Amino acid sequence: MLEKREFYINGQWVAPSASNDVQVIDPSTEEPCAVISLGSEADTNAAVAAAKAALPEWMALPASERIAFVAKLLELYAARNEDLAQAISMEMGAPIDMARTQQFGAGAWHLKNFLKAAENFEFDHALNEKSPNDRIIHEAVGVAALITPWNWPMNQITLKVGAAAVAGCTMVLKPSEQSPLNAMVFAELMDEAGFPAGVFNLVNGDGPGVGTQLSGHPDVDMVSFTGSTRAGQAISKNAANTLKRVHLELGGKGANLIFADADEKAVKRGVLHMMNNTGQSCNAPSRMLVQRPIYDEAVETAREVAEAVTVGNAHDEGRHIGPVVNEVQWNKIQDLIQKGIDEGARLVAGGTGRPDGLNKGFFVKPTVFADVNNDMTIAREEIFGPVLSILPFDTEEEAVAIANDTPYGLTNYVQSTDGDRCNRMARQLRSGMVEMNGAARSAGSPFGGMKQSGNGREGGTWGIEDFLEVKAVGGWAAG
Ligand code: NAI
Ligand code: MG
Repeated sequence: MLEKREFYINGQWVAPSASNDVQVIDPSTEEPCAVISLGSEADTNAAVAAAKAALPEWMALPASERIAFVAKLLELYAARNEDLAQAISMEMGAPIDMARTQQFGAGAWHLKNFLKAAENFEFDHALNEKSPNDRIIHEAVGVAALITPWNWPMNQITLKVGAAAVAGCTMVLKPSEQSPLNAMVFAELMDEAGFPAGVFNLVNGDGPGVGTQLSGHPDVDMVSFTGSTRAGQAISKNAANTLKRVHLELGGKGANLIFADADEKAVKRGVLHMMNNTGQSCNAPSRMLVQRPIYDEAVETAREVAEAVTVGNAHDEGRHIGPVVNEVQWNKIQDLIQKGIDEGARLVAGGTGRPDGLNKGFFVKPTVFADVNNDMTIAREEIFGPVLSILPFDTEEEAVAIANDTPYGLTNYVQSTDGDRCNRMARQLRSGMVEMNGAARSAGSPFGGMKQSGNGREGGTWGIEDFLEVKAVGGWAAG
């Protein structure tokens, strides 16, 4: 079994101050695959102290020098593709081929986009043409605590580390205790890229421990968090005493509006998007809203597509979906599927229990419910598993009302061949992102939510801005 007890603090791998072992569980087998340590307050304090000491020099560097470190990181990242994919696959259950491509690729994509955004970013400029003696300086917020989840681990780590590094923040990363191994490979890459000691630190730990110590720490200037709404609330409350900046990327309950004039692949695309990463994505299109004239046909297509999705061991190559991350999540998903049945939704594919032939591992049947109404628990709660809810609608107004009737506001989707209608919908949907007819958002586009999906934006220019303060200087000596 892998032994990975050390933390990366002040440019070195160090032993934890007190021993507190936990096992990392492989969700495909339910067997332990590694042992790590959970940090204690002394470890948190050491990491924060290192980040604080490294801050003045790091933020004073010309941006071009910080950008060069990130460019070096990106260059080295490719060489660890297999190590990162194996770690992710083993600890959180993404099938290995998908981990090699999507999970790994997300990290390279974000780093590349930060480099592009940083090239054109004005860190320092006159207020306007008429006020040359007023200077606007965008400078680092300071020491940033980065708390990340397990579902798209490299995606979330690079979104935070890449932006913080370019902005001139120093960092303490606390990855999810469910998926610490890929983060430790990433820390090796930060070391290899030559970031000065203390700029980047990693301490493993859980929410009640290191997570809470970081959010309340007087020397932490900002917390950037991705994960559950529950943890986002706890972090916000605990951070309030020190009034630090809190950036939150939380859950979602995305609506996918499929109009009768949608292209013929729209339903299939929506189902497969829901099942990708075994449904464990905050931007999953988990509520499929289908216009009445094509409703029955759409339900039948969704059933066929879901039944054709295969489920299997994450270590096997192929296009199947893997297990969900752990037993807690498996139980939560089972309860929600049962609630869907109990509250009267029509089960058309999947259901409770493991898929046939899989007796061990946290595997879930690809599940589709039809005739869901928006008051049912499965339409309101983020399930974070391969479970799709289908709801009928008649008019545009009704579709928008259902889509917006949720505490979340992360991503919504629209499928229609009527461009004017699509654009109308995009304006009326209350979410940080809207994706239409299968079009992805382009390089450098901001990721983030409205309402209880969080605040702030990650990626590209907006992601860098989230780690910056705006300083206004009067009386600047203009050359
Ligand atoms: P979680 O929110 O507990 O874990 C995410 C990260 O937050 C981990 O690093 C964890 O150690 C940390 N954390 C937990 N409590 C904390 C606290 N009080 N202070 C500081 N850090 C804390 O998420 P969990 O329990 O693994 O998943 C539960 C649900 O959360 C999922 O079913 C899903 O609905 C949602 N979720 C959303 C994600 C997203 O991408 N927005 C990612 C992961 C989970
Ligand atoms: Mg695990």
